[in-house]
Amino acid sequence: MNNNVFVFDHPLIQHKVSLLRDKNTSSKEFRELTSEISMLMGYEVTRDIPLKEVEIETPVGLAKTKVISGKKLAFVPILRAGLGMVEGMLKLVPMARVGHIGLYRDHETLEPVEYYCKLPPDISERDVVLLDPMLATAGSACDAVKFIKQHGAKSIKFVCLIASKQGIERLNREHHDVGIYCAAVDEKLNDIGYIVPGLGDAGDRLFGTK
Ligand code: PRP
Ligand code: URA
Repeated sequence: MNNNVFVFDHPLIQHKVSLLRDKNTSSKEFRELTSEISMLMGYEVTRDIPLKEVEIETPVGLAKTKVISGKKLAFVPILRAGLGMVEGMLKLVPMARVGHIGLYRDHETLEPVEYYCKLPPDISERDVVLLDPMLATAGSACDAVKFIKQHGAKSIKFVCLIASKQGIERLNREHHDVGIYCAAVDEKLNDIGYIVPGLGDAGDRLFGTK
């Protein structure tokens, strides 16, 4: 696997992803699991946030210790399904800003169609964490990355739950500077662009539509 792809092998994440895949998991459980997995992923995704030294007065003396150095983050979910990953990430970094990109896949062409974009105005100074549970053909991810770059973003990570091999290859090919974080890499897509075995339609399962 390409070295800018990070696959989470933590047992808690693997266990929760198995529950997500189960077709009998309810929307309520699906939302809770997505949020929990996102928070666990956030721990690794934020690993390289820079620190600075500070002095803190403890009840016993002075401690030379470290705090986050003010580097700014933006979480950007791809609507709709990416919304399910925001809360978990914000639990770890409550001061992060949240942008939104609205894209849906045309069911005939499988091409992404844009309908909304609202990003923090200082996006070019932020580390952007793009959120979407599924990386299938990667059309949506590539479009979202292109969009964010057009708005000036220079540092982008893409975080998903399940990626297809094909999706990873395409995102890497079109945006080799974007790190990909996922909990599972599945073999293939079916003839309507769904990841197999995947977990089905993430937006529908999160929001109980269909
Ligand atoms: C899903 C998913 C991704 C996209 C992945 O969204 O959340 O955004 O498909 O597929 P791709 O890699 O082939 O582009 P969908 O288009 O179903 O929209 P929704 O979130 O509004 O349901
Ligand atoms: N979008 C989804 O929600 N699921 C897939 O498997 C592929 C695209």
